[in-house]
Amino acid sequence: MYNSKITGLGHYVPDNIVTNTELSKMMDTNDEWIIERTGIQERRWVKEGSEDTTAVMGAKAARIAIKRAGLTKDDIDFIVFATLSPDYFFPGCGVQIQDMLDMPTIGALDVRNQCSGFIYALSTADQFIKTGMYKNILVIGAELHSSGLDKTTRGRGISVLFGDGAGACVLSRSEDNSKGILSSHLHSEGKYADKLIVESPSSKKWVPEIIDSEGEDISYFPYMDGTFVFKHAVVRFSEAIMEGLSANNLTVADLDLFIPHQANLRISQFVQRKFKLNDDQVYNNIMSYGNTTAASIIIALSEAWEKGKIKDNDLVVLAAFGSGFTWGSVVIRW
Ligand code: UT7
Repeated sequence: MYNSKITGLGHYVPDNIVTNTELSKMMDTNDEWIIERTGIQERRWVKEGSEDTTAVMGAKAARIAIKRAGLTKDDIDFIVFATLSPDYFFPGCGVQIQDMLDMPTIGALDVRNQCSGFIYALSTADQFIKTGMYKNILVIGAELHSSGLDKTTRGRGISVLFGDGAGACVLSRSEDNSKGILSSHLHSEGKYADKLIVESPSSKKWVPEIIDSEGEDISYFPYMDGTFVFKHAVVRFSEAIMEGLSANNLTVADLDLFIPHQANLRISQFVQRKFKLNDDQVYNNIMSYGNTTAASIIIALSEAWEKGKIKDNDLVVLAAFGSGFTWGSVVIRW
């Protein structure tokens, strides 16, 4: 068995900054409520008419990651792309990356695990490397939420939370078994699927029903039972961290950096307090980008690395929880 390690990281967010005050001109909300309940100060939203799509942003992040890995697009053997907001109902964004980066006809896999999408994607890529099937895999998380949000007061409980952006890494084969991805842990509980959901477009709806539907169909907008999701999130985040550490005979004292999925600053702070982690041990950037779902962990990882917050041999734990419900963690010795 081989080991896998992250050899290149990159991220891209659209230029357009949308502050809480700007949102308060679109709907009945305010800066105080958003900051107090979520910690979010601003987010990036793609401007209507911009060239940026989920796949385009993913490609921009991917080019940076490949370059930083010291590789070229021809060295990549496989693509794993996580998103809940693909450009098309089908095909997925993975094949668009193959085309946009002018890669050889390598395989491309799309992952549909929402907020845990990047954890699932990284774990999947890790298995392909461990078995020896591939040497260099491009793993991408990208989202374009802003085109599909209900930006009226009706949707304020959701639309103020989400932002657009993309992150990518190259996962490469390594002969050093003491470093790289030590383990990954994946979970789901589908009975809560309707607690955080976008119902449409849906193959459950027959075309005549869509044509006959009158007025606005709110099933195209995200729905979340926020309080219910919050309560489950704090429990599952904690479990996911402990599961990852215990599987490697490690404890919280060994942790150098925890990067949680950026769902809500209050969730991250709850976990930080529970495990008595200091501010340097937890990386948050939800204040600037909002919740970018499958992109959030990889944007945060890339940014933390750029800021020099990850050093050789550091123990880094990534964890996510979200729609599905799905949750999981990845433990990395850097
Ligand atoms: O990434 C996937 C995982 N996601 C999560 O883990 C998110 C988990 N949930 C949350 O982060 C929180 O539940 C939210 C931030 C979404 C909401 O916070 P909350 O403290 O649970 O608020 P709430 O939904 O209970 O709403 C409280 C009040 C309501 O008014 P009333 O009924 O008390 O009069 C809402 O209508 O706040 C109102 N409200 C708002 N007010 C101003 C809801 N959204 C807004 C808003 N601005 N944007």
